Amino acid sequence: MNNIIYMDNHATTPIAPEVLEAMMPYLTTHFGNASSTHAFGTTAKDAVEKARQQVAELLGCSAEEICFTSGATESDNLAVRGIAYACRDKGNHIITSAAEHHAILDTCHALEAEGFETTYLPVDKHGMVSPDDVEAAITPKTILMSFMYANNEVGTINPISDIAAVAAKHGVLFHSDAVQGIGQLPSNMEKLGVDLASLTAHKIYGPKGIGTLYIRQDSSQPLSLFYGGGQESGVRPGTLNVAGIVGLGAACELSQNYMASGKSRVSTLRDTLHEKLNARLEDIHLNGHPEQRLPGNLNLCFAGVQSHALLMGLKRVSVSTGSACDSESVKASHVLVAMGVPTELAVTAVRFGLGRYNTAEEVDIVADEVLKVVKRLRALAPE
Ligand SMILES: Cc1ncc(COP(=O)(O)O)c(C=O)c1O
Repeated sequence: MNNIIYMDNHATTPIAPEVLEAMMPYLTTHFGNASSTHAFGTTAKDAVEKARQQVAELLGCSAEEICFTSGATESDNLAVRGIAYACRDKGNHIITSAAEHHAILDTCHALEAEGFETTYLPVDKHGMVSPDDVEAAITPKTILMSFMYANNEVGTINPISDIAAVAAKHGVLFHSDAVQGIGQLPSNMEKLGVDLASLTAHKIYGPKGIGTLYIRQDSSQPLSLFYGGGQESGVRPGTLNVAGIVGLGAACELSQNYMASGKSRVSTLRDTLHEKLNARLEDIHLNGHPEQRLPGNLNLCFAGVQSHALLMGLKRVSVSTGSACDSESVKASHVLVAMGVPTELAVTAVRFGLGRYNTAEEVDIVADEVLKVVKRLRALAPE
């Protein structure tokens, strides 16, 4: 992997050395079960509670509002399904957007089979949800709305506080899949105005398989999806992943310090990459909002070059496509389709996800390699 450049930080981030160091004792000597009352257990429990406090500090909330889960897929399922079940006597209508992650979309689809109704709001050409559309979609039966903080494909940042104001005005609970925003954008839950929010460690330089559902204390509590021991106040029973939780806590503290230092060079590197490609290649198109976008996100369509062919040609660069391949065809990403990007262009989308550890030298290498491969593939294409 030594000379492969990693630019797929929306998929996952590497574990920060500080995070690994914090986790190591809990993978070795401090292996106790945090529910045990003996010394091994209390050592683990103390570490869990310290981590809970670290997460709460990043989110500007109290530690009691943090519920540890196995990651954002579980947090999203717990929020949407758990609130739907908990509030069933109040109504059966959920509002979300067509550009959400499948952890939300597929949960809503599954709930429809159980008698719930979902409105999937359109997004604009930049992938953004309109608070006016949200307000217009509310009915007396609406119990929950769920909109992501920032899109994982095109990086567009939704106007979360404005949507929250609409939700509060109508007494509807608001969940946000905040996976891509937390740790990079303002992360104070009270200021954002959300009732529930999903977070996962592996997008903020922590380990995989650990996340959080923030649940505002005076909000309705989601019904648990699991039966078992009473961990996490019964909302998410199961033996706690102590090492993972410690890693999540350390990653939150690191993110908070990183944001406070104001030293982020990520958006500058991202813009440099965009300028270099723009200057040397014709017919490339930016997907996502030109300004309201995650600092490390650059999602580009290279007209005439299928994204899978480009990815296969890039030997030194790890990036993602915006499309999925099945045996028969290449499918355009549902996010790009929702934004109205024509299919023939959408299947050429590539997502560059720059992160904390990328360098200016890497940007130069990536720009050169992309340029070379795009030119070669375009030259091969039939007129
Ligand atoms: C917006 C968004 N939501 C949810 C998830 C799922 O998170 P996890 O991998 O922790 O289950 C991801 C990860 O790809 C994501 O980007």
